[in-house]
Amino acid sequence: MSTDTTTDRPTREISVTVNGEEVTAEVEPRLKLSDFLRNYVDLGSVRVGCEHGVCGACTVSVDGDIAKSCLMYAVQLDGKEVTTVEGISEAGSLHPIQEAFHEEHALQCGFCTSGFIMSAREFLAENPDPTRAEIKAALADNICRCTGYQNIFDAVERAADNMEGD
Ligand code: FES
Ligand code: FES
Repeated sequence: MSTDTTTDRPTREISVTVNGEEVTAEVEPRLKLSDFLRNYVDLGSVRVGCEHGVCGACTVSVDGDIAKSCLMYAVQLDGKEVTTVEGISEAGSLHPIQEAFHEEHALQCGFCTSGFIMSAREFLAENPDPTRAEIKAALADNICRCTGYQNIFDAVERAADNMEGD
């Protein structure tokens, strides 16, 4: 534990693998993971909406499981791996779920989109051939204030079809 000389508050060095790159930083124990990803790693896809675990806009993957990054502290991630939507595409191509969101017009303002995509990605990895009802249930922790949800569900269905056999 060290001290930030400008604030006189305690800090701790953490090392986190973010989208495959190791990031080392000195952070205050109270720093939320969402703020760490946005402000220390400059990952703008991690949106902060409600800041209390309700809207899903801040959803990321931590060691392969989805997590609401506003509910975690950055120090909890020391030694762990985080993936954000910036890390899911390969060689500059859109991930099939991103492609499906584009094809189905599944976003308007886009504030919620990265959270939906991260939730859908984990869901489809576990359930590659879901029913509409299963998709709705799986995305129930993500809120969208623009689309009315139907195009998002269509996009996840399309992504499942496109990813069949991957
Ligand atoms: S900002 Fe994290 S769930 Fe809303
Ligand atoms: S597209 Fe605007 S909140 Fe979902």
